[in-house]
Amino acid sequence: MALTINPINGMLGVEISGIDLSRPVDTETKQELNALFSRYAVLVFRDQPLSPPQFMKAAEVFGELMDQQIKQFVLPDYPLVGANSTKDLPRKNGKLQVRGENYHTDHSNHLKPPKATSLVAVEIPSYGGDTQFVDVRRAYADLPEAVKQKIATLRSMHVHQSSHSPRSFAKLSPEEMANIPHVLQPLVIRHPVSGEPALYLNTGRMEGIQGMSPEEGFALIAELYAHATQSIYEYRHKWRAGDMVIWDNRSVMHQANADYDPEEYRYLYRVMLNGEALIPAFE
Ligand code: SIN
Repeated sequence: MALTINPINGMLGVEISGIDLSRPVDTETKQELNALFSRYAVLVFRDQPLSPPQFMKAAEVFGELMDQQIKQFVLPDYPLVGANSTKDLPRKNGKLQVRGENYHTDHSNHLKPPKATSLVAVEIPSYGGDTQFVDVRRAYADLPEAVKQKIATLRSMHVHQSSHSPRSFAKLSPEEMANIPHVLQPLVIRHPVSGEPALYLNTGRMEGIQGMSPEEGFALIAELYAHATQSIYEYRHKWRAGDMVIWDNRSVMHQANADYDPEEYRYLYRVMLNGEALIPAFE
């Protein structure tokens, strides 16, 4: 297959055409796509109106499908595929409470967080509802040396919902809550393929910094988050029905937007891929 590659924002994001993801992908193309995934962190494929089983196969080009933590939003016939639908969202003062607002990286409270998350757009509102990504590799690289030194070996406890979380998470059943992990994660991680260091942040789940007072720890998290979410590090994906986007949770944070007409329908399929325990960039 001859892929056409159009990088989006330097090393963040690439639009790939010349491939039909509803068909089997040969070994050479798989290798090429995986190399692009590690390098560009967000892959965008337009015009791929995949059915759930086709989407599962397409995502498996990049790894192994991960179990969905929140069972209430999965497709009954395909429990590894989540349904991201406006019809499931509560409203507050007329505004949809969308899942995934505020920049984050998925399930960071797991010992082995998902290496990737992917969405296929089935139906998209006439305006708004973009997904934003920020490159936490570049954000790390741009930090002053003194800050790099200070944070090199720091760790943060990631829990289900931080006491300082800017958002509320979906309500879980007592059985689901009983299985929710919490884990100490490095503040600076190393990518297992590229070896690149990156900030590892999730304000919704980080419960301070190990060895620091709560005030000092949360202040440092807020400072790093403000730095990493600057628009210079951003790619903002404007969805079209039939887009498949897959991103590397170790290289980017992402966020959803509730800026569309709540009466319009937004519906995407969502899968995650199993990851490994995170590698600290420095010991
Ligand atoms: C997510 O965080 O996976 C959802 C992104 C979106 O709906 O835009």
